[in-house]
Amino acid sequence: MKDEGPRILIVGSGAVGAVFGEHLTRAGARVRFLVRNPDSPNAHMPRALHQLHLAGPPSTVHQMLDTSADVQGQWDQCWLCLPSTALSSDWLKQELDQLDPGVEVINWTPDLEDRARLEERLHRPVSMGLIGFVSYQAPLPGETHPDEGIAYWLPPRAATLEDTRAGKRAANLLKNGGLSARRSRNLPWLAARLSALMITLVAALEREQWSLERLRRSPHLDTAASAAREAMAVGAAYLDTRVRWSRQLPRTGLYRGLLKGVPPLAPFDLENYLGYHFAKVADQTRLMLDTWIAEGHQRHVEVTHLEELRRQLP
Ligand SMILES: NC(=O)c1ccc[n+]([C@@H]2O[C@H](COP(=O)([O-])OP(=O)(O)OC[C@H]3O[C@@H](n4cnc5c(N)ncnc54)[C@H](OP(=O)(O)O)[C@@H]3O)[C@@H](O)[C@H]2O)c1
Repeated sequence: MKDEGPRILIVGSGAVGAVFGEHLTRAGARVRFLVRNPDSPNAHMPRALHQLHLAGPPSTVHQMLDTSADVQGQWDQCWLCLPSTALSSDWLKQELDQLDPGVEVINWTPDLEDRARLEERLHRPVSMGLIGFVSYQAPLPGETHPDEGIAYWLPPRAATLEDTRAGKRAANLLKNGGLSARRSRNLPWLAARLSALMITLVAALEREQWSLERLRRSPHLDTAASAAREAMAVGAAYLDTRVRWSRQLPRTGLYRGLLKGVPPLAPFDLENYLGYHFAKVADQTRLMLDTWIAEGHQRHVEVTHLEELRRQLP
C-alpha cells in the first residue's frame, strides 16, 4: 500500500466491492478487502475489470488488491459491500465487533432495517449509500464477452451517499476516482422508494423465470405494481415521512412501457444480468419482502399484495 491517502477497508470483494475498490484506488485511497473466504473466486487477484460503455469496446484494467485485511488495522472508513443477508452472519458480527470505534462506516446494503441493525451492533452512526451502477461476474451465462472478470457500467449518479461528514468524504473520493457520486439530504427515503419499485418487480420477474417478455404479459405485473405501492407506504411509515407523488409511479402501463423500452438502451444484456444478479441475491429479495410485510403488520399498513408476491416465490 502507498503511505498516504485515506485507508478504506472494503468488506466483501464481489461485483460491487471490486468497482468501489478500483475507483477509490484511482482517487489515491489505500484500499484492502476483508473477505469471509479467501478461496472464493471473488477473492482471486489479479482480476480483470471491464468498464462497459454505451458505444465502443470496454476499457479493461487489472485489479490487484490485498484480500487479507485485518479489521483491527488503522482504517478511516469501512465500506460494507455485501448483501443484506450477510449482516446477520456470525462471521461479520465477530469481525465488526473488533472495528475501532473511530472508524466511519458506510453501508451499501438495501434492506429497510439494515441501518438500525448495524447501528445497534456497532454503537455508532452508520452512513448509508445507494448503488446506481451495474456490475457482475463476467461473462454472463451463455455469453463469451467480456472475458472472465468483473464487468461494470457506470451511469450518471452511479452512487448516492447520505449528506453526513462520512458520506461527503466517501462521495468526494468516488468523484475524484472517476465515479459519478452525489449526496442526498434524505437518502433513506430515496432508497426506500427505489427499492420498493425495483424489488417488487424483481420478485415478479423471478416468478416469470426471469423473462422480461413473459413479465410484460403477466398478471403478476399488476401484483408487483400494487406491492410496490404498499412497500412505499411501509417505508414512509417506517421513516416517518409522507409518500406524496411517488405513490403514483408503480403502474402496470408504465411498467409495460419500461420493460419494452429500457433493455435495448443498456450496453449489456439487461435480461441476462437481472436473472444472474437476482438469482445470486435471491435470499436478499425474500428478506426485503419479509421486512416490508413484518413492518406493515406492526404499523397497520396494508401488505396483501406483498404477501401474495412473497407466497409466489419458492
Ligand atoms: N452488482 C450490482 O450490479 C448491484 C447493483 C445494485 C445493488 N447491488 C447490491 O450490492 C450488494 C452486493 O452485491 P454484489 O453484486 O457485489 O454481490 P457479490 O458479487 O455476490 O458479492 C458479495 C460479497 O459479499 C460476500 N458475502 C455474501 N454473503 C455473505 C455472508 N453471509 N457473510 C459474509 N460475506 C458474504 C461474498 O463473499 P463470497 O465471495 O465468499 O461469496 C462477496 O464477497 C447486494 O446487496 C446487491 O443487491 C448490486
